[in-house]
Amino acid sequence: MTRTPTPVTVHGIGYAFGAHPVLHHLDLKVEGGTTTALLGPSGCGKSTLLKLLAGLLQPQSGEIHFGDRTVASAGFSLAPEQRDIGMVFQDYALWPHMSVAQNVGFPLLMRRVPNAERLRRIMIALDRVGLADFALRRPSDLSGGQQQRVALARAIIAEPAILLFDEPLSNLDRDLRESLCFEMAALLKQLGTTAVYVTHDRSEAEVLADHIVHLSQGSITAIQAVGPLSGETA
Ligand SMILES: Nc1ncnc2c1ncn2[C@@H]1O[C@H](COP(=O)(O)OP(=O)(O)OP(=O)(O)O)[C@@H](O)[C@H]1O
Ligand SMILES: [Mg+2]
Repeated sequence: MTRTPTPVTVHGIGYAFGAHPVLHHLDLKVEGGTTTALLGPSGCGKSTLLKLLAGLLQPQSGEIHFGDRTVASAGFSLAPEQRDIGMVFQDYALWPHMSVAQNVGFPLLMRRVPNAERLRRIMIALDRVGLADFALRRPSDLSGGQQQRVALARAIIAEPAILLFDEPLSNLDRDLRESLCFEMAALLKQLGTTAVYVTHDRSEAEVLADHIVHLSQGSITAIQAVGPLSGETA
């Protein structure tokens, strides 16, 4: 299935935990089909911004649009399951009692996709992440890198409009981090899905992203294009 990639627009987003302001009226645009990395030191608000995009937090001011859909605005926040997103976190977040196939197929089960079609798509997703032979294993019988591939397959299986990543490689050792980073970059290019990727690793951001948004203490300090024509634009 081909469809027009969905842009993400964040307008004037502000967020505070109680009296502690974390994000200060951020504006951000992610073009459809591109990957933007959110890069910055610990505590600068990267995960908070990603959670706002996911619908796990509700902004106190501003708006978020996915294409022509408003997913958050003053007093309104669309539930995560209604946002057409896939998410991958640092800690894999797999269900230990389910097989790899059941974990990967879960988003389709929720959408009541019939068994045969679900199985077909599970195998396509597992093949995409190089785990076609691991469908019947339990997550506990996989390495960290393999578990993260399962989480990645689960995130892409429903062909979401937007993929959200929060430091998905940071629990892996350096060599594995590097190789999986290149594989994920290739997969994102192939899928053409709009993606937002949180990291504090500049080299990871440079491999994966089309643009790097530099965050510091809840504000954007620079937006950098990655690639042959790269340069700071803000
Ligand atoms: N549930 C919470 N309650 C109160 N404060 C929080 C909560 N979650 C995060 N914060 C604070 O908000 C700020 C931003 O946190 P956030 O998790 O967005 O940072 P981050 O950039 O993702 O950092 P890291 O790289 O360490 O993951 C930090 O000062 C943090 O202490
Ligand atoms: Mg974080």
